[in-house]
Amino acid sequence: MRIDVLTLFPEMFLSPLQESILKRAQQRGLLTIILHQLRDYALDRHQMTDDVPYGGGVGMVMKPEPIFRAVETLRGSEPIPLIFLTPQGRVLTQQRVIELAQWPRLMLLCGHYEGVDERVREHLVTEEISIGDYVLTGGELAALVLIDAVARFIPGVLGAEAGAWEDSHASGLLEGPQYTRPARFRDWSVPEVLLSGHHAHVARWRRQQALRRTLERRPDLLAQAHLSPKDQQLLEQIRRSQGEPGAG
Ligand code: 6GU
Repeated sequence: MRIDVLTLFPEMFLSPLQESILKRAQQRGLLTIILHQLRDYALDRHQMTDDVPYGGGVGMVMKPEPIFRAVETLRGSEPIPLIFLTPQGRVLTQQRVIELAQWPRLMLLCGHYEGVDERVREHLVTEEISIGDYVLTGGELAALVLIDAVARFIPGVLGAEAGAWEDSHASGLLEGPQYTRPARFRDWSVPEVLLSGHHAHVARWRRQQALRRTLERRPDLLAQAHLSPKDQQLLEQIRRSQGEPGAG
């Protein structure tokens, strides 16, 4: 997959893209990230990318010309999604991440200042995405989040091929607890069932823990998840045991 990023701050991307899994994905040719300085597409003497808002008001607005010029230069006539990262966008979900990962190319536009000229949104951008209900100083960190989340679904990027599909949210539930050695650390022991070697019991315990954690922290996810009759039964047990001393 190729991702073109249009930003006034390309250096914000450098170190996150040069570490760990994203670094390896690029080295292997599975992912190509091309950073574009929007200022380079401004034709005026001062390479202005922002200006005062019509009608008055505080802050600056990103000008349309450099953005149109950059996108049209890079995209040609190909149908490539242009995603504008903005707190006014739809909140990114794992489902949308999976869909975006199917495209061979994406273009990301990082907003800054008070916003961008509305004609960019109306006539150039194909989708506006936010990463959550809080406000960042700009779209760069949000673009990095999107890149990271999408990259996990490019075949070969994660070590274990099924990896991305087994994580929290992929199944519709949060993941339960994990343990490693030692079996006893300070006064805290690993749950006995995990040491038992009984695979069916381990699987059942894990499912129960995932259901419990989701019920406690994200009941909204639980309402959407695909639950088997067995899951419903486990959930009923969890609900019954809640509030009892030692339960949980
Ligand atoms: Cl995409 N941009 C900004 N500036 N703030 C955000 C955001 C994006 N998503 C959540 N907050």
